[in-house]
Amino acid sequence: MKERVIILDFGSQFTQLIARRVRELNVYCEILPFSAEVTLAPEVKAVILSGSPCSVRQEGAPTVDLSTFFGKVPLLGVCYGAQMMALQLGGKVEQSEKREYGHAKLRPMGVLDPLLSEIPEDSQIWMSHADTIMALPKEFELLAGTDQINTAVFRSRSGVYDKPVYGLQFHPEVTHTVHGLKILKNFIYDIAGCEGSWTPASFATEKIAELKETIGSEGVLMGLSGGVDSTVAATLLHRAIGDQLVCFFIDNGLLRKGEFEQVLESYHGQGLNVVGIDARDRFLNALAGVSDPEGKRKIIGREFIRVFEEEAKKLSGIKWLGQGTIYPDVIESVSVTGPSVTIKSHHNVGGLPDYLHLEIIEPLRSLFKDEVRKVGHELEIPGGILNRHPFPGPGLAIRILGDITAERVQLLQEADAIFIDQLKSQGHYDNVWQAGVMLLPIHSVGVMGDERTYEQVVALRSVDSHDGMTATWSPLPHDFLSLVSTRIINEVKGINRVVYDISTKPPATIEWE
Ligand code: XMP
Repeated sequence: MKERVIILDFGSQFTQLIARRVRELNVYCEILPFSAEVTLAPEVKAVILSGSPCSVRQEGAPTVDLSTFFGKVPLLGVCYGAQMMALQLGGKVEQSEKREYGHAKLRPMGVLDPLLSEIPEDSQIWMSHADTIMALPKEFELLAGTDQINTAVFRSRSGVYDKPVYGLQFHPEVTHTVHGLKILKNFIYDIAGCEGSWTPASFATEKIAELKETIGSEGVLMGLSGGVDSTVAATLLHRAIGDQLVCFFIDNGLLRKGEFEQVLESYHGQGLNVVGIDARDRFLNALAGVSDPEGKRKIIGREFIRVFEEEAKKLSGIKWLGQGTIYPDVIESVSVTGPSVTIKSHHNVGGLPDYLHLEIIEPLRSLFKDEVRKVGHELEIPGGILNRHPFPGPGLAIRILGDITAERVQLLQEADAIFIDQLKSQGHYDNVWQAGVMLLPIHSVGVMGDERTYEQVVALRSVDSHDGMTATWSPLPHDFLSLVSTRIINEVKGINRVVYDISTKPPATIEWE
């Protein structure tokens, strides 16, 4: 990798956003916890210090000794990061009455500087700070303030350090700072001298070469889910090592209608060496009589591991286990008590036992979700897979409230297929984040022709979201919902009532179990 920017995370909710912006500028960057040991290798072109929910004046606040950075690498402090710079050199940071939250106008001091190049006077910026820099140390000079505070932007005086130091009291990474991206661009390109050659295409080329080198002639095993992440990861591995990669795609009987066959066919079409494993009966038997949601999840996780293990034992020469872990799974904002790195358990294939002695390889570990899609696009993975809605690992088991039987799975599959089919044919599928149908554990009375019916109820669920952490229900048109309802009731024998879920998350969740 030719160039890299390091973002030291002091716990701000916006740290990931800084990384996103730097990547948008086609520069590869990494978030490290503030306490990480940073090696300033030649490819590290700049270090950015993030904001924090803490106060620099607070006892035990996260901190680093900035003398390891001053003058050695171009440095940019954002909010808390800027305050820490000022404080460590003897400046004054105080909780003043002039706290600022929300919008402010930037008032440059008229000093010509590349950081504020082409940033108009009065440009809107976004502030979120209780502490304020009341006096800058002698090493720094002021570039801009606001109506409320004197110090909004500063830099190191020329000649003080070999490499420049900049501080911003506001958040350039949020879109409310109208010229924030330009300010970051000025820093990354004009001040730190980055070239911006990192693109999804260059990532793919470099990653494929790196995987080839790391893996050599050993075998890699990978479980595929039909989702974007595992497919893109497997495709990169396949480009690197061809049929040394063996993939498992397990049919647990809880996938969408026809999904197993379609996805398997698509995988084969891409040339992936995939073994399709029919484990439907095994999963359904294990789930018989279980209605507790967490119980269902545990059983599915356990059976998945067992099937995987049994199949893995049939292979020889496997040294690596490929996984589709992506960046948000890896980074977790540091807390004041210390950084932690966690991996969501469902991305860890439920935690395969150590005795398989496989080493983990994660080609997408450094990418955000939309970057994974761009790489997938670059690798010419079919749109049907790249644009697929998220689908939970336990599948329809957590959309069937109560007991799971083969009949109930089939009923839900039919209703779900109609909903998804209509979303696609009416052009809504790509505009909603996730959609599916829930089968409720109740019967209700209806009337069909002259006959009274007593049949099951389904709830349609469609949500708009960025990351699944929060979600709002999709305002799908009434005539669309009406059409889906009519089709389900007419075509799926056993369902006589359809309702639409209009709950937001929180307090509700996306899945019903
Ligand atoms: P909730 O229901 O928690 O769902 O609002 C948020 C997102 O996570 C998915 N989900 C899961 N994915 N294993 C998974 O792999 C699970 O056990 C699981 N539970 C929920 C859900 O589909 C949504 O995208």
